[in-house]
Amino acid sequence: MVDLRGRDFLKLLDYTPKEINHLLKVAATLKKQKHNHISHKHLKGKQIALLFEKDSTRTRCAFESGAVDLGMQATYIGPTGSQLGKKETIADTARVLSRMYDGIEYRGFGQDIVEELAKYSSVPVWNGLTDEFHPTQMLADVMTIKEEFGKLKGIKLVFLGDARNNVGNSLMVVSAKLGIDFTCCAPKELFPEDKLVKQCMEIAKETGAKITLTENVEEGTKNADVIYTDVWVSMGEPMEKWESRIKLLSKYQVNKKVMENANPKAIFLHCLPSFHNIDTKIGYEIYEKYGIKEMEVTDEVFESKKSRVFEEAENRQHTIKAVMLETLKK
Ligand code: CP
Ligand code: NVA
Repeated sequence: MVDLRGRDFLKLLDYTPKEINHLLKVAATLKKQKHNHISHKHLKGKQIALLFEKDSTRTRCAFESGAVDLGMQATYIGPTGSQLGKKETIADTARVLSRMYDGIEYRGFGQDIVEELAKYSSVPVWNGLTDEFHPTQMLADVMTIKEEFGKLKGIKLVFLGDARNNVGNSLMVVSAKLGIDFTCCAPKELFPEDKLVKQCMEIAKETGAKITLTENVEEGTKNADVIYTDVWVSMGEPMEKWESRIKLLSKYQVNKKVMENANPKAIFLHCLPSFHNIDTKIGYEIYEKYGIKEMEVTDEVFESKKSRVFEEAENRQHTIKAVMLETLKK
């Protein structure tokens, strides 16, 4: 029996494979109920606070709409407009919000901040992205992979790009936990930190997962079932980073050649948002400055039949609902 009541959800390293699989199962049930218009207001009357020190579309909307689906109300606290970080500490904010709310979501900078929030909070705290980890994203990603291939064990998942960011790190962790064959395909200077790699390799020994790090795109992506990428510069990093990242990561772009080197049934995933054209403010600025029209993925792959990015985005809602339900239910 898996019982997650009262638990925080800060990083997948804190969760057992059994607990992660349980959340995926609950998410699948909630998805079916939602698609069949079956009411599931299991958390009626509860309230949650959403603390965002960085921007968000998917995570915020998944928590807000998911809260309503479950019968709850959500209060959004954005990057400006609250006392947090200016006049009030994380510890005090945690204790204040715990007196008014049943759960707290936090998106921001260092992982230590969300860990501190959880330490002082008396209600569950959920990590909606930090510089180091993005655990709710992982549940949606593996749910999407499972829907596609009917299993996770032995699936070859390749991440190309900035592999020591929140998404790269978390993919390696979730793969280790769930027996996925994970390849990090990136320049050495952007490999995940040694300590985390070692930790994941230890976990992999128990679960049958494989963890490979390579700089070689052709070798790395050969026979992949899932090709995954993320932005080359993450939120919170300075704009000046673009120049060096473009130099380092251009050859790790996901394009037709990469997809053709993968398994014929391979799918493409991306946590989003994505720079696959110049129709965004930043995308256009990068184009004007560096002359590139597509970055981590070409528009052709993004819009192709292999792309599951919008299925993946939808699954953010079902999986986040599963986390809220399992940690808040009576
Ligand atoms: N994937 C993801 O976390 O998207 P948002 O930044 O829009 O929340
Ligand atoms: N690595 C990206 C993920 C966005 C969902 C960032 O942190 O900006």
